[in-house]
Amino acid sequence: MQRRTFLKLGAIASGTVAFGGVSRLATRTAAAQSAVPTVDRLVMTNVVDNIYDIFAKGGKLDTVTVQRTSLGKSGTLLAEHGLAYHLESVRGGERREVLLDFSLTERNLLNNYAVLKVDPARADAFILSHGHLDHYGALPDLARLTQGRLKPGLTVYAGGEDTFCHRVVATPAGTIDQGQLDRGALEARGLKIVLAKQTTVVAGHAFTSGQIPRLTDFERPPAPARLVAGPMDSMCSVSHFGVTRVEAKPGDLVPDTFQGEHATAYHVKDRGLVVITSCGHAGVINSVRQIQKATGVEKVHAVVGGFHLAPAPDEIVAKTVEAFRTINPDYIIPMHCTGLNTIMAVHQAMPKKLVMPSTGTRVIFGA
Ligand SMILES: [Fe+2]
Ligand SMILES: [Fe+2]
Repeated sequence: MQRRTFLKLGAIASGTVAFGGVSRLATRTAAAQSAVPTVDRLVMTNVVDNIYDIFAKGGKLDTVTVQRTSLGKSGTLLAEHGLAYHLESVRGGERREVLLDFSLTERNLLNNYAVLKVDPARADAFILSHGHLDHYGALPDLARLTQGRLKPGLTVYAGGEDTFCHRVVATPAGTIDQGQLDRGALEARGLKIVLAKQTTVVAGHAFTSGQIPRLTDFERPPAPARLVAGPMDSMCSVSHFGVTRVEAKPGDLVPDTFQGEHATAYHVKDRGLVVITSCGHAGVINSVRQIQKATGVEKVHAVVGGFHLAPAPDEIVAKTVEAFRTINPDYIIPMHCTGLNTIMAVHQAMPKKLVMPSTGTRVIFGA
């Protein structure tokens, strides 16, 4: 019998586990599913997002509860072009907290952590989706301000070397600098960095996608995205960018394939997968397919995140919505860079699945 092999299975409760290899199985085995961490409940808080709608309505939907954070005594939430999540999960009596992405500015992230009563010192792990400034921007300041207060050995799960390489966006008007996250500076603050290139269990409850195979023919990285080539023997040489054949000198701009971008996911008991794409440069459909394949779980409860379709032509939006129909998640929660075009298309095609988030929105999955 063919069987999915999971590596280092015994370490699931404590930290990093690579779900082994790529399965050739079409059908999913019970062994595969039993290796996937399952939680009873996940509370996903949208700590920072592009909008803050104080009039957004909350309430109980069919199988999720949506809570909003309106103006209150503890202060006002701040929105910006950036994304940050707090993910709190429960399995039995075990509770885990994960911080995913760190928005653009320290001012907004720390303000919103305080308003939402998120304490980084309680975090069991950090996950960074990719190396764009609107996702890592506040992380260096957070590491500085919390040095010595975070859990010992706290790990930042990144998806690949390119997370720490210099990025720019090339526009007709010139390049927009996305900066470069300094890995050594984070480590000097006491953070441990793991490059989770394979599917990896995080804090025993969550897992990351690993690097995401590009399966669809319509999802492409954003055309203006560039990486700045580093020296050939460095972590930022083109050999780490997925463009090994390119002749590039240090300082040259090379197309950014987002090889090291990864998605985050949970398997919620009696609900299915909650897939969180962050910026979705690898393609939201590719991301969902990778999580399904890696876990052996077909049922998708929710697709959450930035889908990066705001600049996409109608044809690609339509193909994405068609793929959503096939995947048939219970909920689609579009954030950040998804774009009004895609939100409207999802609303038209599957209005009951659409949940509109806002900075401060909490979605409760599971019991
Ligand atoms: Fe991005
Ligand atoms: Fe982004």
